Amino acid sequence: MLYFIRLLTAFTILVLQVQSVPFLSTRQSSSSTNTSNATTTIINNTLIAKIDDIRARWGVKGINVALVASPDYIGNKTGHSQKEWSTQSISLGSANRHNHAFEDDTLYAIGSNSKHFAAVSIGLLIANNTKLSNGQLLSLTTKVKDILPEFGLMDGYAGENADLVDLMSMRSGLPRHDHLIGPSKTVPHLLSGLPITDGFVHENINYQTCISAVQAFLQAGGGTNLTACAGEIKSIGWWDHTDGVRIATTGGVITTGQDMIKWLKEELSPTVLPSFIVPATTTSWSVLTNQPAIPGITSIYSYGLGQYMYTYRGYTIHTHDGSVFGQLSHNIRIPDLGIGMVIIVNDQSYGDSMGSLVGNMILDAVLDLEPINWELKTVKGLAGLLDLTNTDSQSSTNSPLTSSNTTNSTTQTRPAPDRNTIIGTYTDKAYGDWKVQPISDLQNISTISALNQTLTQYGLTFTDQSYFAHDDQSSFITHYVFTPSDGPLFNITPSYITPTYDENSDDASGLTAITYSPGTAVFKDNGMGLFNIWQQGNTLQPSIVVEDNIEQNAEVWFKKQ
Ligand SMILES: *[C@@H]1O[C@H](CO)[C@@H](O)[C@H](O)[C@H]1NC(C)=O
Ligand SMILES: *[C@@H]1O[C@H](CO)[C@@H](O)[C@H](O)[C@H]1NC(C)=O
Ligand SMILES: *[C@@H]1O[C@H](CO)[C@@H](O)[C@H](O)[C@H]1NC(C)=O
Ligand SMILES: *[C@@H]1O[C@H](CO)[C@@H](O)[C@H](O)[C@H]1NC(C)=O
Ligand SMILES: *[C@@H]1O[C@H](CO)[C@@H](O)[C@H](O)[C@H]1NC(C)=O
Ligand SMILES: *[C@@H]1O[C@H](CO)[C@@H](O)[C@H](O)[C@H]1NC(C)=O
Ligand SMILES: *[C@@H]1O[C@H](CO)[C@@H](O)[C@H](O)[C@H]1NC(C)=O
Ligand SMILES: *[C@@H]1O[C@H](CO)[C@@H](O)[C@H](O)[C@H]1NC(C)=O
Ligand SMILES: *[C@@H]1O[C@H](CO)[C@@H](O)[C@H](O)[C@H]1NC(C)=O
Ligand SMILES: *[C@@H]1O[C@H](CO)[C@@H](O)[C@H](O)[C@H]1NC(C)=O
Repeated sequence: MLYFIRLLTAFTILVLQVQSVPFLSTRQSSSSTNTSNATTTIINNTLIAKIDDIRARWGVKGINVALVASPDYIGNKTGHSQKEWSTQSISLGSANRHNHAFEDDTLYAIGSNSKHFAAVSIGLLIANNTKLSNGQLLSLTTKVKDILPEFGLMDGYAGENADLVDLMSMRSGLPRHDHLIGPSKTVPHLLSGLPITDGFVHENINYQTCISAVQAFLQAGGGTNLTACAGEIKSIGWWDHTDGVRIATTGGVITTGQDMIKWLKEELSPTVLPSFIVPATTTSWSVLTNQPAIPGITSIYSYGLGQYMYTYRGYTIHTHDGSVFGQLSHNIRIPDLGIGMVIIVNDQSYGDSMGSLVGNMILDAVLDLEPINWELKTVKGLAGLLDLTNTDSQSSTNSPLTSSNTTNSTTQTRPAPDRNTIIGTYTDKAYGDWKVQPISDLQNISTISALNQTLTQYGLTFTDQSYFAHDDQSSFITHYVFTPSDGPLFNITPSYITPTYDENSDDASGLTAITYSPGTAVFKDNGMGLFNIWQQGNTLQPSIVVEDNIEQNAEVWFKKQ
């Protein structure tokens, strides 16, 4: 429960501070404020100081904002007509543990904000009148199977008929399976959460598949290597222990503030991209929330191709968020006014909330609306006092607090099965081979301690009957930890072990584990079924854990070798 306690304490302090600190803080400047790159004032120093004040009080290391405003917007505001776009680069706090400032050329990862690049890339191929091998022109409604013959889904009809829009608008029915992120050949072996086109279910693999499809097709025709077009391929070692290529299109872009300024302008007012592309990606192809996310302030959210659409206090917003461990980003645009911003926060715990909060404060300012006390609303939302529906595509990555039915902890009613029944190698066609071993086989003290510490957040602890499976195939997960719950039922906690560094140090000081909320593993003589592991997001119901007919009912069924 350490994590909960830490959060609750933080929230209590924040609520007290927020209520006693007037929203219009009197602080005029901050030593860490760096607006050296402002070419125009889109937002003023008073607001910047207020944001920095919140950043400092929340203990968030750094925030970077790249902001653009159209000539029209600034012209109307100042009464002087103007030809150029205005840009403002705001660097608050520091970019890293060496306390470097966020420069315009500081590299950061934008996670799922990469998806829009992927969708736009496909748009570029369409614009080039790219032909399929059957002679037809590539289009958004091209069936994936017509490009990538080996593509399929467990639901055969869906596999035959899924088109590029189905995949890119997250309506293939596949749940996230984030741990899996891997080659598209795994897709036919994954159970769907919903029939195809029935609704939005966030799934990164959709993006990988689209791009693999297009890539395979291009190479077959001797064409471009799309991955190579997208930029330089480099390891993104601190959060992905692979070369990152397989997650490139769904979350692999690493970029800079300078480039985000160019990208925001291009998204808002394309000069290079053919005019049909951005509108195609910001068309509502599927519905993400069927209730306004924040009643009275925002509308429902819909999803295009790597883009969310909603209205904020009456204005249309195009947006997406992204996260990789420790780098959380938001791309937020007001297309009708020509305003755009990319916000980066380098804090794993509060980065996503901080990004939304800063985004909303800036929206209020540029829209010239009465400011809402977003800090107070955010704190109340985090503390569960307010229902701020989380639309974040990556929420289950960031939020170890996602409620789960399996964190029941407490007393075990039935004894765990004999150790020899559990240990062994388990195989699933998509997930691969898992070697389940007793926790005592983990030799590395730092790993044990990091895992143990993170388990306590869920009220789980290691016992003699705990096990683990090491995973070196998944992009994200290094260890799946099994702790006994009730007889054949175990909690399974997917964890990612990563080194920690002290301020200014280049040497790792230890290890920490980042975990996804636990699911349930049910062990049988012939295999293991997993429940509530595929990250259902906000559209699917939690799976009901059963002990019979597991092969049919589990989200993932591993056969024991
Ligand atoms: C802002 O950043 C620039 C470039 O790193 C640096 O020269 C300048 O001193 C910084 N300003 C402040 C107020 O920190
Ligand atoms: C932003 O400021 C930095 C340091 O002052 C400078 O190197 C860089 O060229 C500036 N970028 C722009 C777009 O003016
Ligand atoms: C600027 O003002 C004109 C005239 O009122 C209006 O038509 C236009 O929409 C405004 N543009 C922006 C970006 O506010
Ligand atoms: C589209 O065609 C142009 C001209 O042949 C080429 O330079 C460009 O790379 C092509 N774009 C894509 C995405 O294939
Ligand atoms: C695409 O290009 C990259 C970089 O040049 C290379 O590493 C990769 O192997 C290529 N992919 C394929 C499938 O050829
Ligand atoms: C700064 O911007 C905020 C938000 O737009 C505005 O309310 C405030 O009056 C401005 N302050 C100054 C000193 O211009
Ligand atoms: C959770 O606790 C309830 C009540 O003690 C129990 O019936 C149920 O089986 C538990 N669920 C799990 C997954 O352990
Ligand atoms: C434990 O594992 C970490 C990460 O793999 C490694 O850096 C460290 O050296 C290991 N420690 C021991 C004692 O093997
Ligand atoms: C795990 O943490 C608990 C609580 O801090 C501690 O009592 C226990 O000894 C630890 N177990 C291991 C195996 O480190
Ligand atoms: C929670 O777990 C219990 C016991 O395993 C099960 O009966 C119940 O249906 C589960 N609830 C949900 C929402 O999955």
